Amino acid sequence: MQNWTPDSWQSMPILQQPEYQDTAALKRVEQKLAELPPLVFAGEVRSLHQQLAEVSAGRAFLLQGGDCAESFAEFNATNIRDTFQAMMQMAVVMTFAGSCPVVKVARIAGQYAKPRSAGTETIDGVELPSYRGDIINDIEFTAEARTPDPERLIHAYNQATSTLNLLRAFAQGGFADLHKVHQWNRGFVAKSPQGEKYQHLAKQIDDALAFMEACGIRSTNVPQLKETQLFTSHEALLLNYEQALTRRDSITEHWYNCSAHMLWIGDRTRQLDGAHVEFLRGVENPIGMKVGPTMKPDELIEIIDTLNPQNLPGRLTLISRMGADNITEMLPPLVRKVKEEGRNVVWSSDPMHGNTIKASSGYKTRSVESILKEMKGFFEVHRAEGTYAGGVHFEMTGQNVTECIGGAYQITEEGLGDRYHTHCDPRLNADQALELAFLIADTLKQARGR
Ligand code: PEP
Ligand code: CO
Repeated sequence: MQNWTPDSWQSMPILQQPEYQDTAALKRVEQKLAELPPLVFAGEVRSLHQQLAEVSAGRAFLLQGGDCAESFAEFNATNIRDTFQAMMQMAVVMTFAGSCPVVKVARIAGQYAKPRSAGTETIDGVELPSYRGDIINDIEFTAEARTPDPERLIHAYNQATSTLNLLRAFAQGGFADLHKVHQWNRGFVAKSPQGEKYQHLAKQIDDALAFMEACGIRSTNVPQLKETQLFTSHEALLLNYEQALTRRDSITEHWYNCSAHMLWIGDRTRQLDGAHVEFLRGVENPIGMKVGPTMKPDELIEIIDTLNPQNLPGRLTLISRMGADNITEMLPPLVRKVKEEGRNVVWSSDPMHGNTIKASSGYKTRSVESILKEMKGFFEVHRAEGTYAGGVHFEMTGQNVTECIGGAYQITEEGLGDRYHTHCDPRLNADQALELAFLIADTLKQARGR
């Protein structure tokens, strides 16, 4: 990588950063972080890269999902388990009903920094810095809470570490065993129509496993039956944190961002000459980039060539987030251009961020209906252009929250206040997410049939 160092971003214009008052304390924290062990190993990152290359070739599908913003307050084993379980349920539906391998990447163990539409927030005439995620400041509306605190980087690192530790235990310790698919269907999800549909599918999986076992295929000789791989990802927004966890791999001598397997650039920080593109172009990890309504086809090619000059399949995932009413008009010119220019990318759909509305009660929300509409639009565009719709990107939780309206439990605007827990954007609950997984499975199956 030419003219790149882990700190070369520091001389570029940068958006969406906090203003730390105690810069000496920040320096100390950065130095400390740089000495702490990496969260992920380069070999795992390479494995994700290969799996995403399979997606890019149309042979697998990417499921990326998790919190909009992980918080320090809601950090506990139940939340982690429920997110893991929701991802597993969705993935098994898509794998089985869609007959397609699913690459599972969670927004977890590092998703703590948020871009904001305004630098400050004013309530009753009091103006304070905006909440920028728990790695930066606290959501409470007081001057003290909103002051960026460098110690939060260490807290975030520690929380990411123990989150990842539990995820690895779940993935490899028996929780992800395909013989346990029934047990992932619990609580409010099990009681919904989706839960019943899932129960039916789980029974078919049991039968298939019994058949395979009779043929000699069992978890003692095929470990994939009893364990899985769940990769981690977050928006690489707070570059002090990302740089401190970027390490040179002793085997290949390449630079890896060891804070997560996959990192993405947000729609607000994807400037070609900006710090975020500069930082991410130099690390070997698979990179995502949000592609919103203001993206132009020529600009897109330039950014692709900066982030993936060798045109490696699996290196770059373009995450389209156009809005349900814009997608069929705005996405085709971009998809066409990328195809014409022969650039290898994974196209994924984020049907969340272009569909955020404010309910009359004041809550930020999204309707399952518009999320569905954008997703369907995404699949339609790719079918029409002869390209592969390779993945989805959801803000979701395994909890029974009331943040998005609609779904089997018919969450209404009035009901949003019941269990509205997100620290930033509204998430699908486990049941709404499972409903979308079934729809995706149908679409994948149809596409394979063609
Ligand atoms: C996000 O994914 O949480 C986000 C802020 O998205 P975007 O950059 O697309 O607005
Ligand atoms: Co969000």
